[in-house]
Amino acid sequence: MTTTRPVDVPAFPNQRTEKCPFDPDPAYVRLRAEEPVATVRCPAGVDAVLVSRYEDARAVLSDRRLSSWAASSQHMLSGYDFSEPDPGQIIQLDGEDHARLRRLLIGEFTVRRMEALRPYIQRITDEHIDAMLTGTSADLVRDFGLPIPSLVICEMLGVPYADRDEFQRDSELLLSIETNRSGGAEAWQRISDYIGGLIDQRVVAPADDLLSRLIARGNATDQPLTRAELVTIGATLLIAGHETTANMISLSTALLLENPDQLAALQADPATAVEELLRYLTVIQFGLLRRATEDVTVAGAEVKAGEWLVAAIQSGNRDEDVFPQPDSVDLARQARTHLGFGFGPHQCLGQQLARIELQIALTTLLRRIPGLRLSAPLPLSEFKNSAIIYGLRSLPVQW
Ligand code: HEM
Repeated sequence: MTTTRPVDVPAFPNQRTEKCPFDPDPAYVRLRAEEPVATVRCPAGVDAVLVSRYEDARAVLSDRRLSSWAASSQHMLSGYDFSEPDPGQIIQLDGEDHARLRRLLIGEFTVRRMEALRPYIQRITDEHIDAMLTGTSADLVRDFGLPIPSLVICEMLGVPYADRDEFQRDSELLLSIETNRSGGAEAWQRISDYIGGLIDQRVVAPADDLLSRLIARGNATDQPLTRAELVTIGATLLIAGHETTANMISLSTALLLENPDQLAALQADPATAVEELLRYLTVIQFGLLRRATEDVTVAGAEVKAGEWLVAAIQSGNRDEDVFPQPDSVDLARQARTHLGFGFGPHQCLGQQLARIELQIALTTLLRRIPGLRLSAPLPLSEFKNSAIIYGLRSLPVQW
């Protein structure tokens, strides 16, 4: 490897600071300027090549010689064994195995299908605001940010929303780097058993939902999806579908309440505004991991087969060469090329859905409750520093 070990690389995973919990570790400013390809030691004791500039992160994420196999953040960050990925784990598969699943799923996430969900998302958003308005205060995470994306993904998959307490708790366990191996495995098993039961029902009695259509679409190919694959796809969508957007809704609300000068831009052009929020907040806060399958030169670094790389998208999204004054939030900025949804073959499948949920939730909330304000200054302890998906544990608000 051509890189040297610098003495003051940010502790990885990087922690936000009290100065601004919306910013990534300020050490990335120096890394981008002086050491854009650095070596970091992950908690699992493994060294990884970390690229902090925007273009280098894109180069890593689009290089098909770099594998997503066993590169899940959980493995690197929590020290799990690098065991084989579950069959059907789209986020960890490479090449044709990955493309096969992506082909089967892509039709469920088209812009047209997601746009058709707008009236439903608007209705549940309004209902939650109606419920909040019967009082004068709320926890915005519990009462608004979490329920809306959870309801939407449950509706899409055909998962009963009434069962949310368990799968929300297990998602949180799975996404925390503080969860140990057995705790993570047990949480995954519980979610898998739950989804497995739903799949067995759909096999005998198909319904008008994503899981039923996926079974049928798989059966129409010469390699039908196995039960194990279906379970993993269902569990992954359930987790990915609510945690990410939920954290974005609450975090964006907190940010906007601290930047009221941005509210007019949000209402004027919600689509543009949401891209800037995704750039600025980059909730996938530790970056995206890959592993070299052969000796490669990427982003100017020689990386040997088997070595790990981190595409620090949280830093790439603050790259001053791409986003002038990157540490200012400017909702009128054209930021759609941000890396918040990743880049390359694994770019987020649910991005159109997330965009629509964010647009509707944020504009409706701040329009209908113009007096919304934080009940008290937010302590740093409320921010999920140990979660792979950054967010807030709770957000007490009043009006
Ligand atoms: C603001 C919300 C969201 C953010 C920031 C986000 C972010 C990401 C990122 C960065 C990746 C790339 C991972 C990698 O390259 O290793 C990804 C992949 C993925 N996301 Fe999202 N996501 C969001 C919402 C959603 C939603 C709502 C769904 C589903 C309903 C979803 C489903 C997926 C799936 C299935 C993948 C794997 C795609 C593949 O490997 O081909 N995401 N997401």
